Amino acid sequence: MSFSSSTRDVPQALAVPRHIAIIMDGNGRWAKKRFLPRVAGHGRGVETVREITRACVERGVAYLTLFAFSSENWRRPAEEVSRLRQLFLRALEQEIEKLNANGICLRVVGDLQPFGQKIVEMAARAETFTSANKALTLTIAANYGGRWDMLQAVSRMVRRFPNQSEGFTEEQLAPFLALSYAPEPDLFIRTGGEQRISNFLLWQLAYTELFFTPTLWPDFNAAALDQAIEWYRERERRFGRTSDQLAATAEFGGTEEKGARKVG
Ligand code: IPE
Ligand code: IPE
Ligand code: MG
Repeated sequence: MSFSSSTRDVPQALAVPRHIAIIMDGNGRWAKKRFLPRVAGHGRGVETVREITRACVERGVAYLTLFAFSSENWRRPAEEVSRLRQLFLRALEQEIEKLNANGICLRVVGDLQPFGQKIVEMAARAETFTSANKALTLTIAANYGGRWDMLQAVSRMVRRFPNQSEGFTEEQLAPFLALSYAPEPDLFIRTGGEQRISNFLLWQLAYTELFFTPTLWPDFNAAALDQAIEWYRERERRFGRTSDQLAATAEFGGTEEKGARKVG
């Protein structure tokens, strides 16, 4: 897609978020409440991923980005890390046909090397296989960190412009960020009750609406997603402007679509 930035231009406000980014948190606590091992929660969490992906297609969301494993999750017990890696590999092996049949384009962002060559290859194959699909772009962030993303992007940008040492622009950086193909998220959701970003999309969340819910990820469902979207529609997305300016834009037939109530 062409370059767009919430800090340079005012994005169009739509009734249905174009891009939803989710921190899927609370699997461990869900399992603990049931006296099950933490990994049972991760297994159940995969089912929620299926339900939410389907729901996003049905609602016309164009991009869904899911935080599956952070660059800090390596600090967990080796057994849990190994199980998460296994679940990821199995999903890459078993879900791709179905994703493809539903018109979903899969992207994986993050440094996959530490997961091993097999995952690197499976992810690349899945991306190629589904690359022409248009219904939804589903991005899985695995061994992803917002700081990692910004550093790798700056490093690659600097290499790309060897004769420039200052005055870099957002437009120059944008193509090197991991999510360069997607607009910035409109709506961020974190399940599990914590109100923090945990090194997820640091650059891209600049003007994203942040929704936090105590619901644990395995209990999250399409109805809960609809509640988050309802909440999103009530937000006044000012992008630095005043409420009066927004009202004037609406009155004189501004570019914003009707339906994003407070905005359009
Ligand atoms: C999120 O659930 C899944 C991953 C981080 C991979 P958690 O495993 O963090 O669950 P809680 O936060 O311990 O309940
Ligand atoms: C964030 O959840 C990472 C993922 C959901 C993949 P964590 O459970 O790792 O976050 P913290 O440790 O509570 O901040
Ligand atoms: Mg957690």
